[in-house]
Amino acid sequence: MRLLIIGCGSIGTTLAKAVDEMPEVDLIYITDKSKVCAAHLVEKLHKVKYVDNSDECLSDIINDIDLVVEAASQEAARHFVPFFLERGVDVMMMSVGAFADDDFREKCFKLSKEKGCRLFVPSGAITGTDGLRSASAGEIDEVTLITTKGPKSLRSIEYFKQKGIDIERIKEPTVVFEGSARDAARIFPRNMNIAATLSLLGIGFDRTKVKIVCDPNVERNTHTLIVKGPFGEITSTTSNVPFPRNPSTSYLAALSAIAALKRIINNVWIGV
Ligand SMILES: NC(=O)c1ccc[n+]([C@@H]2O[C@H](COP(=O)([O-])OP(=O)(O)OC[C@H]3O[C@@H](n4cnc5c(N)ncnc54)[C@H](O)[C@@H]3O)[C@@H](O)[C@H]2O)c1
Repeated sequence: MRLLIIGCGSIGTTLAKAVDEMPEVDLIYITDKSKVCAAHLVEKLHKVKYVDNSDECLSDIINDIDLVVEAASQEAARHFVPFFLERGVDVMMMSVGAFADDDFREKCFKLSKEKGCRLFVPSGAITGTDGLRSASAGEIDEVTLITTKGPKSLRSIEYFKQKGIDIERIKEPTVVFEGSARDAARIFPRNMNIAATLSLLGIGFDRTKVKIVCDPNVERNTHTLIVKGPFGEITSTTSNVPFPRNPSTSYLAALSAIAALKRIINNVWIGV
């Protein structure tokens, strides 16, 4: 198998290192809008080859790749996901918040169907998605996500400036956002991918509720998923260790990409 990883940050680096050890993968193309971010991987890993992220250079390797993993940004997802689906290549997408845009999502889903290629969205930094997926085969009354993060993970967000919320001055757990998953994904594009994943699995972006709590006393990003319906109730809490270089991303998100890739390679689907 041959992969292309777009984005050599926290997730892309962790994935590339894991894939380098997988005997089923013989070549890993990597690209990043910053060549410097990719350089350390080219130096350290055995199967890695750098490719420029221009459409022209990526088109040149299209017949040489089986799967593209987007681990860059919503902006990158908006460009590259349809770019590769149109060309019939399977795509794994991490910046799932981009799917809050209905037109973009429908375009990608349609392309995937028409071109017969698969679009994978790993569970990311949240647990309980298996139960939510099963519940969605019947009725669901409520899906709520309560996310608690420290100030480091919520820094430099324009919305807080506009609302006059000074994250650095918060001294006790404080609700800093309450609204729909659609608004959460739009306002916090780097923080709320999981709200998008839950919306896609369950009752959509407008009915999925999100509450964000800023707690100055926590180092971890904690997500509690609550699902209620005729099936019963799910409560699932995930206490995530953030990446040191990017505290808005949790280590579990990178592990979910590695786990998804292993399932794709082995073609055995347990707990689907
Ligand atoms: N699904 C989930 O649960 C989940 C969890 C965490 C992060 N994410 C998302 O996954 C993506 C990657 O996260 P990360 O923590 O590894 O980010 P990061 O900031 O650590 O790294 C992103 C890398 O992508 C590169 N990049 C950005 N835009 C690019 C473009 N247009 N073309 C090529 N390279 C580009 C950057 O230069 C950087 O090196 C982000 O969009 C993040 O929001 C999803």
